[in-house]
Amino acid sequence: MSKFNFDEVLDRSGHHSAKWGAVAADCLPMWVADMDFRSPPAAIDAMIARARHGIFGYTLDPPQLKEVVVERMSRLYNWQIQPEDVLFSPGLVLGLCATGKGFGKPGDAILIQAPVYGPFFKAATSNQKYALSLDMAYVADDAHSFHYENDYEAFEAAASQPQTTMHLQCNPQNPAGFLYSRAELERVAEICLRHKLLIVADEIHSDLILEGAHIPIAALDEEIAQNCITMIAPSKTYNLAGLSCSVLIAQNAEVRARLAAALGSISAHVNIMGYEAAYGAYSGGDEWLRQLLIYLKSNRDFALDFIRRQLPQIKTTVPQATYLLWLDMRALPIDGDVNAFFRERAGVALSPGEFFGDAGKGFLRLNFGCPRSILEQGLRRLKAAVEQLP
Ligand SMILES: Cc1ncc(COP(=O)(O)O)c(C=O)c1O
Repeated sequence: MSKFNFDEVLDRSGHHSAKWGAVAADCLPMWVADMDFRSPPAAIDAMIARARHGIFGYTLDPPQLKEVVVERMSRLYNWQIQPEDVLFSPGLVLGLCATGKGFGKPGDAILIQAPVYGPFFKAATSNQKYALSLDMAYVADDAHSFHYENDYEAFEAAASQPQTTMHLQCNPQNPAGFLYSRAELERVAEICLRHKLLIVADEIHSDLILEGAHIPIAALDEEIAQNCITMIAPSKTYNLAGLSCSVLIAQNAEVRARLAAALGSISAHVNIMGYEAAYGAYSGGDEWLRQLLIYLKSNRDFALDFIRRQLPQIKTTVPQATYLLWLDMRALPIDGDVNAFFRERAGVALSPGEFFGDAGKGFLRLNFGCPRSILEQGLRRLKAAVEQLP
């Protein structure tokens, strides 16, 4: 069995990487959720084999990709879906925006909980809808870490407003990296059902579990499944984001038809290589993923330990999932833009907290999906910059 070498530092220059291309040559990019690892051989080989065929005309959704998704949901979550429940989209953000377009009417509110992945707001605002954003409660665990909790009273009050027609949920949560428990999912689903809110579950990070177990909200029961669109993708898991292939699951035929119509109205087609890589990764990438998760967990623990010991002014979440660490920088004596400070003074580019809504002000997100040597260098640079502060 091959051992994958996640320590290898790969040169991404000359390949128009968004992550590396957006920063100065001497700056370490630890921002956008894209890993600095080579994808699994199964994904690469599938694309090479398809490229050799040499004809790349318009394509249909591959039935075997639907089958592999059905099998995966059953195997991982005991969630029984059918091939016809599966649609594809060139990217999950596009799927979120298509959902905002296809459901409800202008002026409706989409209920979200912040801080959360920025395009959740866009799914509402790009469709003449209102992003009804509730701040999750910040709860300190100890001197070093914190987590968020949902305010269910506020959630119920927001859900009960007549103009609120949809809830976008992010599980595993980006940027905080937590997993919703079964009890929390049941509570959210019950409120959404009672107030007739469509649940749109962005579960793109669901393969990236460092500890605990992911539960798809639609797998809770049939009534919830009928009121839900679930979005997953091989893109985060297998580092295939540039190939733009995401999976949308809708078990309710009417919901699915509306979603398909919204995707069709903007000619949202996945490209051949996206399908090939997705199929290759889902059907042959399990061992790579198993080894990746061990590596990511050890990177997470390394970063947490480093920050606790050497940067005690920074508080962090302890992510159960994702390769993202959410940093509370508010105790640092930095005047002005905290992200610009670290870019300019540390030479490290992190994701700005404001991208995740107003609740993200004073926070930054660090991507630890990289070789350990890069992570260590990035953390040392952060430390050196903090030491320059008064
Ligand atoms: C929660 C979440 N949804 C969606 C995406 C992006 O999906 P895509 O690149 O398929 O549009 C990301 C990327 O970081 C994400 O974290």
